[in-house]
Amino acid sequence: MTVQINYKNIGSKNVKGNLVLFVDEKFSISSLKKHVSSSEYSFISDLLKTKDLKKKIITFDLNSEKKIILVSIKKNLSNSEAENLGAKFYDQFKDLKQSKYNLNSDTIPIELKNIIGCFLHGLKLKSYIFDKYKTKKNKINIQIIVTGKNKTSSKDQIKFRALEEGTFYTRDLVSEPGNILHPDEYAKRLNSLRKVGIRVNIYDEKKLKKLGMNTLLGVGQGSIRGSYLVTMEWNGLNNKSKPLAFVGKGVCFDTGGISLKPAKFMEDMTYDMAGSAVVVGLMKSLALRKAKINAVGVVGLVENMPGGNAQRPGDIVKSYSGKTVEILNTDAEGRLVLADALTYTEQKFKPKFIVDLATLTGAIIVSLGSEYAGLFSNDDKLSKQIINAGKNVEEKVWRMPLSKNYDKLIDSKNADMQNINYVGGAGSTTAAQFLQRFILNKTPWAHLDIAGMAFSKYGGALNSGGATGYGVRLLNKLIEDYYE
Ligand code: BES
Ligand code: MN
Ligand code: ZN
Repeated sequence: MTVQINYKNIGSKNVKGNLVLFVDEKFSISSLKKHVSSSEYSFISDLLKTKDLKKKIITFDLNSEKKIILVSIKKNLSNSEAENLGAKFYDQFKDLKQSKYNLNSDTIPIELKNIIGCFLHGLKLKSYIFDKYKTKKNKINIQIIVTGKNKTSSKDQIKFRALEEGTFYTRDLVSEPGNILHPDEYAKRLNSLRKVGIRVNIYDEKKLKKLGMNTLLGVGQGSIRGSYLVTMEWNGLNNKSKPLAFVGKGVCFDTGGISLKPAKFMEDMTYDMAGSAVVVGLMKSLALRKAKINAVGVVGLVENMPGGNAQRPGDIVKSYSGKTVEILNTDAEGRLVLADALTYTEQKFKPKFIVDLATLTGAIIVSLGSEYAGLFSNDDKLSKQIINAGKNVEEKVWRMPLSKNYDKLIDSKNADMQNINYVGGAGSTTAAQFLQRFILNKTPWAHLDIAGMAFSKYGGALNSGGATGYGVRLLNKLIEDYYE
């Protein structure tokens, strides 16, 4: 799969190959006269009567070599509507495999500034497929040339490119199976982020033991692979201003451990590292577009396996914060990884805020399905910002409650707390309430439970199924709109 996009400074009349022209909602084509030859114009005006004008994208086959494609855009088309239109365009023409399109930007009203950029961004995001392990590759090769003057500024082009690369990197990581992307391999791959200017620190088991990160280490102790905490720092500001912090759950495979999961759909747990992959993809995007902020990404990488050395239900471990946890179910492992990662992030980097992402609970899928991620936060301002950013890029979040009244459900007889709620109910909130106990200095914090969002069996507006990369564009927007 490739979609190549080139911007060219050429006029659009008489260009070779397919022509893409934008028209208004009513398909009033008289404005196109100056962009096509007179024979082409009469061809489309004759045929237009036979077409279904409810469709947003209409194709006219001039000859075997050339199509004219009309894309209708309404007056106040939003950025995300333009993205969806681009994705639709991809879906409509992907079966042509090898094809070239000349997009005439002069047919877009000048008031609609971002349309071309968003249209192509959506098209590109939709075109992603993961076919690394297919011996017969899908040979789609779509080339797009943008002509005319109303095109995306080169600054915006860089932003879109960075966001696409970051999102694709997230999708690549999430798509890799557990036998390939285990914690050793994952940590190694993160080293490559140095190339884009990110400072990478890898803490292996020996270092983590010294630091006292026993809730993280406990999850990985049944695996033959190592356990890691990796920090990634991007300093886009030369000053020492507090960074924004992003923390991710990186359980490369979650069997449940000794509290083993049932066989059916266990294979889905290869995407249990999606939270960490979003953090990684976001950091990469920020570096690629040289964002003017300081940010740090922290990921906990482990594999949750049963085995002779695996953690047992009933074990009591001491976290990095000093608080003790009774493990009642080894399948509630994500919160144990995040507990140490959160406290460490707060203490070491003293960030402006912390946002963590995790495929944390099946219960959030019961609540919100695949429409919204669950948002849990100790801070109203940060919550509002995240909700707004989500609306803007169509990566939506829904705020869920935290309350000290839930605390009794995770208090333990034998330790400071237990890792599951035995009474039942409020599974996502009690998990978030557990996480909150590891924020020690009241740092503004938000937890995004993305269990229902990270992977899509059937595809969505801007993905064709599989890893979605949900969260990269959301957090990028949060930064862009409120912190840059
Ligand atoms: N990784 C799972 C949550 C999950 C489930 C993510 C389905 C994506 C799809 C998590 O580690 C887990 O196993 N959670 C348990 C918690 C329970 C033992 C309290 C769950 O949700 O059942
Ligand atoms: Mn689990
Ligand atoms: Zn898990």
